Formats: sequence, structure tokens, C-alpha cells
Amino acid sequence: MQSASMRSVFFLWALMVFSLCVSRSRAQTCRNYTFTNKNTYALCVDLPVLSSFLHWNYTQSTGTADVAFRHTGASTSRWISWAINPKGQRMLGCQALVAYMTTSGSMYAYTSSVDSYSTDLPEGALSFGVPSISATYENGEMTIFARLKLGTSMTSVSQVWEEGPMNGPGTPGRHSTGGANVRSTGTLNFLSTSSTSGGGSPSGSSGISSTERKKNVHGVLNAVSWGVLMPTGVLLARYLKVFKSANPAWFYLHVTCQTSAYAVGIAGWVTGLRLGDEGGGSSVGTHGNIGMALFILATLQVFALLLRPKPDHKYRLYWNIYHHSCGYTAIALSIVNVFIGLDLLDPTKVWKRTYIIILVVLGCVALIMEPVTWAIVIKKRRRERSQKHPAVGMNGAHSNGYNGRSHEDGV
Ligand SMILES: *[C@@H]1O[C@H](CO)[C@@H](O)[C@H](O)[C@H]1NC(C)=O
Ligand SMILES: *[C@@H]1O[C@H](CO)[C@@H](O)[C@H](O)[C@H]1NC(C)=O
Repeated sequence: MQSASMRSVFFLWALMVFSLCVSRSRAQTCRNYTFTNKNTYALCVDLPVLSSFLHWNYTQSTGTADVAFRHTGASTSRWISWAINPKGQRMLGCQALVAYMTTSGSMYAYTSSVDSYSTDLPEGALSFGVPSISATYENGEMTIFARLKLGTSMTSVSQVWEEGPMNGPGTPGRHSTGGANVRSTGTLNFLSTSSTSGGGSPSGSSGISSTERKKNVHGVLNAVSWGVLMPTGVLLARYLKVFKSANPAWFYLHVTCQTSAYAVGIAGWVTGLRLGDEGGGSSVGTHGNIGMALFILATLQVFALLLRPKPDHKYRLYWNIYHHSCGYTAIALSIVNVFIGLDLLDPTKVWKRTYIIILVVLGCVALIMEPVTWAIVIKKRRRERSQKHPAVGMNGAHSNGYNGRSHEDGV
């Protein structure tokens, strides 16, 4: 039974690490991209729909942006476009960069100002200067490169990106008016990737609330797992262990509590990494570092469970020291990190107060149970001693080995 539960714990752990790797690699698709023309850009963002990416350099003093808009899985019989709309969030007024493949097989890129819903994207000047524009098609990816002279007042803009079919040579046709093609709008801050968002309603405002929602999900997952379940699991182990009637039960309760906390906690951690990739400002640094330390500590604890020596093994004492020091460090860091996170998340302090109440309740349980536990342990030691005393004076005999001993080591 022991080895079956170990296997399932290990399986769970492997699954977590795997999903973590998958989500990391997805989260970084624009970061480690290298352009075949050797262009490099300081900032980039994975646009939420239409398999598209925007890379850019921005020079604040001159208000000049060098942008590269990439669309993967592109077809040579379709056009792509990326636009800034200085007037609003929708299609009308879009200052668009457009590209498609000509019948000769070369890429053609130009600018177009959108002034009607039935536009076929005619060539025309934009409201800002575009000194250079070009496009490439490689490995199923279409990319528009351009330099934009935006002026210094346009650091945060609304952006729209599209793709659609060609209606014959040199004539872009209408793009689809459903699904991802109407969600391909958002705000773009040229100075950072933090407020860049999109995939919202046509009004383009839901980008912010989607980040808020992700932050809330992250907060709830982590506060519940690291902040509540894990300390509860420690209390269960520490205070149930002394009761003979709870002897194997406390162990399974503890393992169940901690492994489910670990599973939820890793999910929470992954959501945090995603938020970090979207950029969160400098205050997130400590929070993220503690999160990484917690992931390592908690993973060590999972390994500790798998490598646990038998209760009367001579190394068990060292294992106990290791398990308890990792465990208590993790609990302390978790609580600190939940507080840091709640400060970042919730200026109204409602969640923070709720969390403090939960901690006070857990603290009260510890305050009551600690003396009870010590009383039981001391009484048990006395009884063991008085039972041993009349005998030959052997030392180190453990009448109920596992239960009594592992607790003594732990206190
Ligand atoms: C970027 O990194 C991820 C893993 O982090 C990898 O899967 C992907 O292939 C890399 N892409 C490029 C273009 O190097
Ligand atoms: C973007 O800026 C970096 C330096 O910050 C520079 O090395 C790079 O060439 C620039 N890219 C383009 C396309 O201008």
C-alpha cells in the first residue's frame, strides 16, 4: 500500500512538472524568437488571438517605434495587417500596416488608412510617418517590419490586428467578422509589456479585467493552498500524532492535505509565472523569488515523502530534522508571500483581513493544542520510564516505536 501511494504521489509530481514545462514554453513564444534577418527588439508581446506577435523598440525622446508584427501559420493567399487606431478601439480610423504575397511570389507591404467597413485596404498615407516598411514570408510566418514616427504623445495606443483572404491580385478581401477576428484588439504600451493586453470585446476595455481576473485566480489558488491547506496539514500532523487512536490516520491526513495543497499550489505558481511574464513591475520581484523558493522547498518535501526511512531506521532522526526544517521554512515563507501577494492584489485589504482571521484561528488551535501535546508526551515518557525502571535498565526501548518516537524527534 505504501509503495502504491508513493507511486501515485510521484505520478502527480511528474504531471505537475510536465504541465509546468508546457505552460512555460507556451508563455515564452515571443521572448526567445530570433528573426532570420537578425533584427532584435527590446520588447515583445504574444497577442492573445490569431497566432500573432508584436516585437518593438521604442525611442521615447523622438517618439519613434521600430515594430515587427508576426503572424504564424500564414497562408500565401491571405493578407495580414497590424494597425494603431488613434481615434478609438474599433476598425474605423485604423492606421494600418498591410502585407500580402504578390502573384510573382514576393511580399508587398504598404500603409492604409481605414475609413469604411467595406474597405479593400487601399494604399494611402497614415496620420503619422512611416519612413520604412517591408514584409517577409518564411516558414509559414508572415512578418511586417516598419519604422513609425509616432511623436512623443503616443506611448499608449489601441492596436488592432487582422488577417483575411485575398480577393484577386492586389486586392485584399474582407476579413471574417466573427470569432478571433473581432477579438483582435487591445491596448499597447510602447514603454512596457505590462499593460499590453487584448482579446477583449470590440470596445477593447476587457483586457484589463482579464488580467485582474488572472490575478484573482492566482491569489485564491495560492492563498488557499500555500497559505491555508499547508499550515493546516502541519497542525494535523503535529497534534493528531500523539493520540494513539489517530495513529495511522494522521499520516494519511497529513499526506493528503499536503499533496493536494502542493497540486493546487503548483497550479497557482504557474498562474503567477504567467502573470510575471506579462510583466508586473518591480514589487513583484520578491514575491516571485519567494514563490520560486517555495516551489523548491515543497518539491523537496515530496521527495522527502518518497525517500522516507522506516520509523526505527538509524537515519530517521536526520530525515525528521530535514523534513521539519524544510516544512516549517516553507510555511513561514508561504505566509509571508501570501501577505506580499495580497498587498499587490487588493488595495481594499478585504482579503488581507480575511486571511488574518484564518491565521488567527489556526494560531489559536496551535496555542491550545501545543500544551495538550506536551502534557501527553511527558506523561507517556514518565509511564515508559516507570515501566522500564524495575527492569534491567536497558535504554532506548520504544514500546510503541513509531508513534512516540517520531513525535519526540519532531518537538
Ligand atoms: C523557445 O523556448 C521554448 C522553451 O522555453 C522552446 O520550446 C521553443 O522551441 C523556443 N523557440 C525558439 C524559436 O527557439
Ligand atoms: C532595437 O534596439 C536594440 C538596442 O536596444 C538594437 O540593438 C536593435 O538593433 C534595435 N532593433 C531595430 C530593429 O532597430
